[in-house]
Amino acid sequence: MPDCTFFTTAIDYTNAAPHIGHAYEKVLTDVLVRFERLSGRSAYFLTGVDQHGQKVQQSAEKEGLTPLAFAEACTAKFLGLWKTLGVEFDGWAATTNPLHKQAVQKILQRLFDEGQLYKQGHRGFYSVRQEQFLTDKERNEAGAFGPEWGQVVELEEENYYFRLSAHKDWLLGFIDAHEHFVVPAFRRVELRNAVERLSGDLCISRPKTRLSWGIELPFDKEFVTYVWFDALINYVSFAGYLAEAGSGLPEFGTLWPAKAHVIGKDILIPAHGVYWPIMLHALGFPDAEIPTLLVHGWWNISGAKMSKSLGNAVNPALLAERYGVSALRYYLMADIATGRDADFSEERLRMRFNDELANNVGNLLNRTLNMAQRYRQGVLRRVPTNDADLHALSEVEAPGAVAAYTQAMEHYQVDAALAAAVNLARACNQLIESSAPWKLAKDPEQADRLDAVLYHLAESIRLVAILLVPVLPEAALGILGQLQASAAPSLAAAVWGGLPDGHQLGTPVPLFPRLEAPPVEAE
Ligand code: ME8
Ligand code: MG
Repeated sequence: MPDCTFFTTAIDYTNAAPHIGHAYEKVLTDVLVRFERLSGRSAYFLTGVDQHGQKVQQSAEKEGLTPLAFAEACTAKFLGLWKTLGVEFDGWAATTNPLHKQAVQKILQRLFDEGQLYKQGHRGFYSVRQEQFLTDKERNEAGAFGPEWGQVVELEEENYYFRLSAHKDWLLGFIDAHEHFVVPAFRRVELRNAVERLSGDLCISRPKTRLSWGIELPFDKEFVTYVWFDALINYVSFAGYLAEAGSGLPEFGTLWPAKAHVIGKDILIPAHGVYWPIMLHALGFPDAEIPTLLVHGWWNISGAKMSKSLGNAVNPALLAERYGVSALRYYLMADIATGRDADFSEERLRMRFNDELANNVGNLLNRTLNMAQRYRQGVLRRVPTNDADLHALSEVEAPGAVAAYTQAMEHYQVDAALAAAVNLARACNQLIESSAPWKLAKDPEQADRLDAVLYHLAESIRLVAILLVPVLPEAALGILGQLQASAAPSLAAAVWGGLPDGHQLGTPVPLFPRLEAPPVEAE
């Protein structure tokens, strides 16, 4: 039974190509899971794909494919990308999976039997081209539905509704009583304001006459389930909720509730912040089993909201190929504060990698191993020292960096955690400048001082490498390998003095070669 679980969104197929925002969310969750494991806690990671709905049906038609064939082709692209980016999940939630369909239908039947769903007619304006009902929000300044909607007809349609508003007061009380329901805190305030304004129930069906690509309602074969209602259920269906014995799914009680659902700010209101807790509550989940929502911000391009339909999405597979996976993962984790937005820039990706990894961490590793090899055949001696600069490093800076890192990671602030690790490396590079080991090496009376400096540098690098494990799993193991400190890295081992007296260091191999801007025609 894992100590904790992280669930993140099922990506949709509005556009068949993954973009940088998707990569960010999955890498973030992967990093949080790896941090749990580094801390000695086991963790389970669920993510997937949201395969139903009108847009999938339309895109498939355009390409002359069945919706399932279209969905499977998209899925392959996402799976390939996660493998490239080192996103290692434990459970894969693909909503066309028959096990998921069964769970959705059981949930619908249960809600129907308990009177949480009802059927009602709705009369309104319907766009034939966009295949959707229009509300006053869709009217233009002249008060009319513009030409973008094509032919608009008045239509009466029956559908099934979920009694959302019956649970409004419960949700308000729940939000008030659970300070950590939504992280960061300012998003909880936004959500509460939105719930205050909530009115009406949620239409959870679509007549098959206008949408067939969905999960059929178990109590009315003329309808399929609204795609959000279907997609949200992935978080419980793939965790084994209502599963039959022998289904192969996990045992629900071992995975629920998730420590966090990692989602973007655009899908907090209403989907994850209103529909989802109310669905769980209506199904009888106690308040203590409603999971926390960790709401990340948005990557913008040139300050503009990145939109799939605008076609300006940055392709993460291409960036990984151009700059390497380490550079992409590092940039995505270092250049955004969790919960806030950031502007995507390839130039900043190169700059941060070069400044912080190539010139700082990588350079420190190279210089230290080179000097240790040149002056001491790579053998460390752990001599007692009272030198104030070394004392400050081992007693203050190094433990301070580990503590700041841990504290930041526990609050999902990966950027601040990385800064703590990188600053420790920077302090070591300064120590190289101020202690000038090349001068010490010329003076036999300074032999102990030289040994102590080399030991302090190597030991600090070991700590930096451990802290980098969640974000840069491969490169961090590379550093530890060159130090020949290859025991499985753990946060518990990130305490001063892990390298023993007489330890043999390896030889340096560059891990972070500087990135150059690609030739202009490649941009
Ligand atoms: O919303 N920056 O799927 P999706 C950061 N299928 N994050 C971004 C982003 C950006 N520019 N663009 C998108 C869906 N995201 C539903 C989810 S879960 C039951 C169903 C994030 O493919 C977005 O915020 O449109 C969301 O969390 C995730 O990518 C998937 O978005
Ligand atoms: Mg979306």
